[in-house]
Amino acid sequence: MGEIHRDQYVSTVRANVPLCSEHYRLVLQLPEFPPTEPGQFIQISCRDLDVDYGPEHELVEQDGRWSNPIGMELQSPLAILRRPFSLAGRRDVDGDDPPTQRRTTAIHKIHEFVKDDLEERWARLARAGRDVKPASEATKTLQSPKQIVSADRVELDIIHRVVGVGTDWMSRLKVGDRVHILGPLGNRFTLPAQELSPSPGTPGEGQGGGRMSVATPTPTLPRSTGRGRESDATVASAEKDQQSILVGGGVGIPPMLYLAERLVGRSAVAFCGALRRDLLPLSIREGIRGVGDSAPREDIVEFARHGVASVITTDDGSYGFQGFVTQALEQYLDSREPAAVKPIIYTCGPEPMMKRVADIAHARGIECQIAVERAMACGMGTCQSCCIKVRRPPAASGGRDWVYRLACTDGPVFRGAELLW
Ligand SMILES: Cc1cc2nc3c(=O)[nH]c(=O)nc-3n(C[C@H](O)[C@H](O)[C@H](O)COP(=O)(O)OP(=O)(O)OC[C@H]3O[C@@H](n4cnc5c(N)ncnc54)[C@H](O)[C@@H]3O)c2cc1C
Ligand code: FES
Repeated sequence: MGEIHRDQYVSTVRANVPLCSEHYRLVLQLPEFPPTEPGQFIQISCRDLDVDYGPEHELVEQDGRWSNPIGMELQSPLAILRRPFSLAGRRDVDGDDPPTQRRTTAIHKIHEFVKDDLEERWARLARAGRDVKPASEATKTLQSPKQIVSADRVELDIIHRVVGVGTDWMSRLKVGDRVHILGPLGNRFTLPAQELSPSPGTPGEGQGGGRMSVATPTPTLPRSTGRGRESDATVASAEKDQQSILVGGGVGIPPMLYLAERLVGRSAVAFCGALRRDLLPLSIREGIRGVGDSAPREDIVEFARHGVASVITTDDGSYGFQGFVTQALEQYLDSREPAAVKPIIYTCGPEPMMKRVADIAHARGIECQIAVERAMACGMGTCQSCCIKVRRPPAASGGRDWVYRLACTDGPVFRGAELLW
């Protein structure tokens, strides 16, 4: 297992806006955060950092009396455990706004002061007859101001649906509030093969020992310009690319947005499904899609900005194709040129949906990667609450043809063919 980069961080809310009737887009800002990849998640501590909640304890009955029935967790609903959320996007911002300018100037001044001070001390030691190296050797060890200010800030996007006490707390976060997070956690989606060299600085199998990342080296990932397809040359090469099909249902849509960010200039199409239109956590351009239309169109802003067309489905037909996202997927796959290079399917959403996607892929011999959203407590492989059964050759698992894996550290991304639902 490689190096694990996860840690705890205090982030600041940069935005928290409602996207539809139940989803919010939360942007968390941090001075720094380890490298991340689509499929990974963070754990959010859904409590105010400035409130002293007191020690947590169980309510114990002794001699007919309840001990210490005063903890805040006993007085009102309180999210004691952290809650897991997929990364829906990430930006490393090299800002040049006024506060950053002030910070940059301050860092340069501090650097000059420390450098002068060090040189002065060195000179004093030399005058006192001490055998010291040239002062320039000592100041070399100082980090340059450029290094310090280069990664100005990191912004992490989270899209969350209000379903209980933790997400309700998150929906009430305001710009400037502080949020405690743990991450990055879990493994990642493996991008389709591309003739590119491995990229330095991207997490490999070390992120919790993800098995999928061991199998395929991380290709160099084109950076998003936010302007859609980058050049004619890239588009031409994308035509020969293995197509990525992204299938997201409900709260499974956020990791697909982050994945789309990494697929700029490559062949990709997204399928997004929800019960009703007002539960789609997406910005939809009006007037592009007709009633019942199941063709891929560039009407979801978050995908279109990366050059990814999308298909929208609603169970009640309030927008796009009426029916399950899996039905639209089947139709699409059946309409593909049989001789075309097989696509690769990425999916996240409710388990019945993902199971159906896995079956559809399996029946057509298509590789499928699934991000499972099992209920999780620790998120770090300690509590064993997120076990999932995975197929294994009997010889490799003591005679059984399955083993338990942990969704938080061995996953959340698994190959469709290996999951035993
Ligand atoms: C790896 C991972 C990534 C996730 N990414 C996202 C995301 O991007 N956006 C998002 O909105 N949610 C995501 N979830 C689900 C999210 O963690 C839960 O909705 C959240 O923990 C609920 O917390 P709560 O305190 O609001 O609700 P609780 O009060 O804890 O629960 C409310 C209800 O939601 C159910 N519930 C809780 N967790 C889950 C779960 N994982 N799956 C199904 N039902 C659940 C409970 O059983 C209960 O019925 C993810 C979960 C995992 C494991
Ligand atoms: S959530 Fe604790 S082991 Fe996976």
